[in-house]
Amino acid sequence: MPDRDPSAVLPPSAEKRSYVRRMFAAIAPRYDLMNRLMTLGRDRIWRRSTVRLCALPRGGRLLDVATGTGEIAFEALLQDAALQVTGVDLTREMMVRGRTKHPGLTFPFLEGDALALPFGDNTFDAACSGFMMRNVLDVSAAFAEQARVVKAGGRVVCLEITRPASRLFRPVFDVYFFRLVPLIGGLISGQPQAYRYLPQSTVDFPRPAELARIMLSVGLRDVRYQTAMLGTVALHWGTK
Ligand SMILES: C[S@@+](CC[C@H](N)C(=O)[O-])C[C@H]1O[C@@H](n2cnc3c(N)ncnc32)[C@H](O)[C@@H]1O
Repeated sequence: MPDRDPSAVLPPSAEKRSYVRRMFAAIAPRYDLMNRLMTLGRDRIWRRSTVRLCALPRGGRLLDVATGTGEIAFEALLQDAALQVTGVDLTREMMVRGRTKHPGLTFPFLEGDALALPFGDNTFDAACSGFMMRNVLDVSAAFAEQARVVKAGGRVVCLEITRPASRLFRPVFDVYFFRLVPLIGGLISGQPQAYRYLPQSTVDFPRPAELARIMLSVGLRDVRYQTAMLGTVALHWGTK
């Protein structure tokens, strides 16, 4: 049930980066609450799996790309307080929310672009991203950047929304995602446009098997994926 005219919702490519930044800045105050509501609290489980799939050594170095309010990075620290976690994101307003969320738990939140990560080659034991890939202009370049900053043998892990393949379930999901989410998201955040963009951004996003091929094409090996929540969420991982 995507809108008949996606261009009414999606920004032109040249403006995508600034559009995405403005949008996340606007919804930052309600971002975590909307996540819990939209996923019925399941998002925490997926983030936990994302961290586990990073297969970090104890006290290892993790880069959380597009950390936002730090949900995955904090989850990593809850699993192992000795980890050296760094978060990087385009949107300062999201990170400002994250900084004060868990008194006693902290990590550096840095401003930066997933397509030009401000780190040297072979710096981290793993890099991950959660719900970011739909928002970047070049998915392949984003994976290549993560592969670049990870050490040989380290993991690159991607958590993302995907539209279910099941013909039976898809219409139900589409009503929820394309009608209900924009309505509820608009009411809670006061930013209906942002919650129209969210479902629309999944329409042309590569299906899980294609995303796995993109990861292989940037040189990652042993690429695998699994879907969850009736095929609405996909977790991909590969090794440098
Ligand atoms: C849906 S939020 C996900 C935040 C967090 N990873 C989570 O799991 O809750 C998407 C985040 O991606 C960030 N983002 C989008 N494009 C980006 C880019 N090119 N570089 C860095 N961050 C980006 C946005 O600013 C936003 O904070």
